Amino acid sequence: MQTEIFKNIDTEGLNRCGQMLREGKVVAFPTETVYGLGASALCDEAVATVFAVKSRPCDNPLIAHICDEGMLPIVAKEVSPVAKRLFSLYWPGPLTVILPKTDTISPLVTAGGNTVAVRCPLHPVARELIRAAGVPVVAPSANLSGKPSPTDFETTLEDLSGLVPAIIDGGKCSVGVESTVVLPQDDNLLRILRPGAITPEMLSDAGFTVELDPNILSPLDHSKPVLSPGMKHRHYAPKAPLTIVKGEKQAVLDFLRQKQQQGAGILCFEGEMEGDFVRCYGQEDDADSQSQNLFAALRQFDHLPVNEIYARQPNPMGVGLAVYNRLLRAAEFNIMEVKQ
Ligand code: TXA
Ligand code: MG
Repeated sequence: MQTEIFKNIDTEGLNRCGQMLREGKVVAFPTETVYGLGASALCDEAVATVFAVKSRPCDNPLIAHICDEGMLPIVAKEVSPVAKRLFSLYWPGPLTVILPKTDTISPLVTAGGNTVAVRCPLHPVARELIRAAGVPVVAPSANLSGKPSPTDFETTLEDLSGLVPAIIDGGKCSVGVESTVVLPQDDNLLRILRPGAITPEMLSDAGFTVELDPNILSPLDHSKPVLSPGMKHRHYAPKAPLTIVKGEKQAVLDFLRQKQQQGAGILCFEGEMEGDFVRCYGQEDDADSQSQNLFAALRQFDHLPVNEIYARQPNPMGVGLAVYNRLLRAAEFNIMEVKQ
């Protein structure tokens, strides 16, 4: 398939891509978090194509993206006061809210479940595209299943060139990790199913009672029900096995230098180490820079001749929790501690 590239997209391009979506075709586009692979949420065939292109397990439901709250009734019903408060505080933005679904959307979107994940993105291209399509747009991250999410146009092209009819170039994503996914529960209680740039600290400061899903920091307990099906699947992983190294900073850096001499790939912070197989993911004290750079850094190891990778552990505060969660999943929860 020939993939049409849209650079510096204008109204005419947006209308064409919107029409493609409305007609059941898939289009990859930028959001403020990561690139998404879009399809009409109302069209079974289009949603099935998204699963097929990504080789995504069909029990992992998709997020329905809307351009404003006016589109919400198409996808969700019974919007609780807690959910309404979330929208007024964080939409448009990197927050996905789980709500009871309508019968209008394709059952494939929710993998047969009764709830739908809904997000109103902040990126102007994403919102104008959904507006031009005139339908809610499902969009999982635009990576092939299992790989780190693409945070720039070039990586999206690397995964999807020849597999989709259109990709919109929107440059680099400003956030770099996927949206926060929350399940509003009774009263003021929110359960965070996936951490992101809308942090637990922000939600607590806004007066919500916040509960972290245990699967954010620990592997699945197969005896318990899974609230977020995405947690079941291997994710974000480079080809070589990855180990997170924790401990006192100097001891960790000494250990990483030893591993570097043995030919391992090293993932650390800016300015800490240098070498052919060393990649940095932001500054040690700046979680925003880590979230912007983590996925691109993880992907680079696939182009290096390394058989194992060792990574510095981020501080899991603020958006750092999302960074740590993605790194843990890339490492399949493989952590080691070093002592001086
Ligand atoms: O930032 C984002 O959210 C990006 C951009 C493109 O908007 N999209 C994204 O989609 O990350 P995806 O499909 O890669 O991740 C969706 C996550 C998965 O972990 C999925 O299991 C969860 O949301 N999810 C979807 N519907 C759900 C539901 N009804 N209940 C619980 N979790 C759900
Ligand atoms: Mg994804």
